[in-house]
Amino acid sequence: MTEKGYNSGLLSFLILVGSLVLCPCRPHGYRGKSLEDVTKELSNYSAIAQKIINLAVHGKAQNRSYERLAAFTDTVGNRVSGSRNLDLAIKYMYNALKQDGLENVHLEPVKIPHWVRGQESAVMVLPRNHTLSILGLGSSVGTPKEGIEAEVLVVESFDDLKKRASEAKGKIVVYNQPFVSYGETVAYRTSGASEAAKVGAVASLIRSITPFSINSPHTGWQWYQPGVPQIPTACITVEDAQMMARMAHRGTKIVVRLTMGAQNLADVDSFNTVAEIIGSERPEQVVLLSGHLDSWDVGQGAMDDGGGMAISWEALSLIKDLGLRPKRTLRAVLWSAEEAGGVGAMQYYQQHKANITNFDLVMESDMGTFAPIGLQFTGSDKARAIMAEIMKLLAPINVTSLEKHGEGTDINMWMQAGVPGASLHTADSKYFWFHHTEGDTMTVQNPEEMNLCSAVWAVVSYVVADLDEMLPR
Ligand SMILES: *[C@@H]1O[C@H](CO)[C@@H](O)[C@H](O)[C@H]1NC(C)=O
Ligand SMILES: *[C@@H]1O[C@H](CO)[C@@H](O)[C@H](O)[C@H]1NC(C)=O
Ligand SMILES: *[C@@H]1O[C@H](CO)[C@@H](O)[C@H](O)[C@H]1NC(C)=O
Ligand SMILES: *[C@@H]1O[C@H](CO)[C@@H](O)[C@H](O)[C@H]1NC(C)=O
Ligand SMILES: *[C@@H]1O[C@H](CO)[C@@H](O)[C@H](O)[C@H]1NC(C)=O
Repeated sequence: MTEKGYNSGLLSFLILVGSLVLCPCRPHGYRGKSLEDVTKELSNYSAIAQKIINLAVHGKAQNRSYERLAAFTDTVGNRVSGSRNLDLAIKYMYNALKQDGLENVHLEPVKIPHWVRGQESAVMVLPRNHTLSILGLGSSVGTPKEGIEAEVLVVESFDDLKKRASEAKGKIVVYNQPFVSYGETVAYRTSGASEAAKVGAVASLIRSITPFSINSPHTGWQWYQPGVPQIPTACITVEDAQMMARMAHRGTKIVVRLTMGAQNLADVDSFNTVAEIIGSERPEQVVLLSGHLDSWDVGQGAMDDGGGMAISWEALSLIKDLGLRPKRTLRAVLWSAEEAGGVGAMQYYQQHKANITNFDLVMESDMGTFAPIGLQFTGSDKARAIMAEIMKLLAPINVTSLEKHGEGTDINMWMQAGVPGASLHTADSKYFWFHHTEGDTMTVQNPEEMNLCSAVWAVVSYVVADLDEMLPR
């Protein structure tokens, strides 16, 4: 993740020049208050922060984000890009946001991928019959109707695959890479198929990207490289990958029959779903809070990313219920098709980047809504210093830490263009246990933890939106 591009550097320079001459005509109204003055201004917000916390954690809104999320996921279920369920989910949320009395509730059109899984199965037929638990990977092609039956080549890494390239032709490559971290190990899911195809494999099976398993496959999107044959690809369980690795190590011949009915259909129409509390003084300036509305086609998509979208909605509800209206607009955006590669958010960026100087802060929650630990933040040193002061308002719930590296597929392009960005950091040590599996259900969520996440989201977004000045870039 790059923090600053050329444009934001230029922008910072212009802001600096502007603040030196105190020009009142700058688009975003930033005059460069000193940190000391902003800190004084912030001391006015501790009572409001306490009110928000009380309502979310102890008051009438206790457990509301959890209850709303449960009603939503129990009703709609999972909602993969391009599916009828995603359409239903968008309608559901549009109506719910309207009924809640939020402002400017509307849908913004986007085009999204439409991949369908179809029937799929995999059986190890040698050295013994064993059904493999699999999930095809998003954008994978299918197999012929009768499936592909081939001998298996087990590799432990891309390097291992290169060394054994001469053995790969006509085989099904099984990757049994160790889990290092999601960020690093996910490369096997995203490009394992193309790497295997380059050395002549007919299919690839990838050990699920997870540190823990009870024989559950974890799906996810994958990308074919241009000019490389497209071979079917699925994830298998850690258990099956390790077993086949042991068998191969003993010199045992392994044969697998893979059958996948997957298809890539034409892109379909969809929407990013938007709700606001319109700013009282600078309505064109925006603090954006977000989570994604789509999910994988397994489980309920409660954790990924039902929780993130539920707290983004809840933050606006809390502020509305307290009769608060910040100076700038608070905008919740529920993205479409994040799982297909941030597709809805990328189109939102293209549609709205003309107004980039009016984006004060972009926020995303997409790493779970477990017990909150702090915020991860990307922005200038001065913006960071202000954010660190704002976090002190969360002392009543002990969530005061401001960390480095705001992250999130859906807000990255804004941050790369110089807009300050924040992501929610929670006690996510079990996140990848459930990620993209049948296990991602409401059972993973906890109402009290979601109350705390909602309070963090509401306090930070409200205060940033209400300060005299936008965050400096
Ligand atoms: C705090 O709020 C009061 C009343 O709204 C206002 O008069 C005062 O200027 C504020 N102080 C700062 C430092 O912003
Ligand atoms: C909120 O959830 C907690 C934990 O399940 C429970 O103890 C509490 O009674 C709930 N509060 C309300 C208002 O339902
Ligand atoms: C596996 O099952 C098939 C079909 O049921 C059977 O023909 C075959 O003998 C079995 N293979 C082994 C190794 O047991
Ligand atoms: C830019 O902001 C102005 C003022 O709020 C608004 O009227 C316009 O629709 C916005 N344009 C885009 C592309 O978001
Ligand atoms: C507050 O949070 C810190 C860091 O997350 C933790 O070490 C500490 O135990 C917490 N204190 C309380 C009172 O919960």
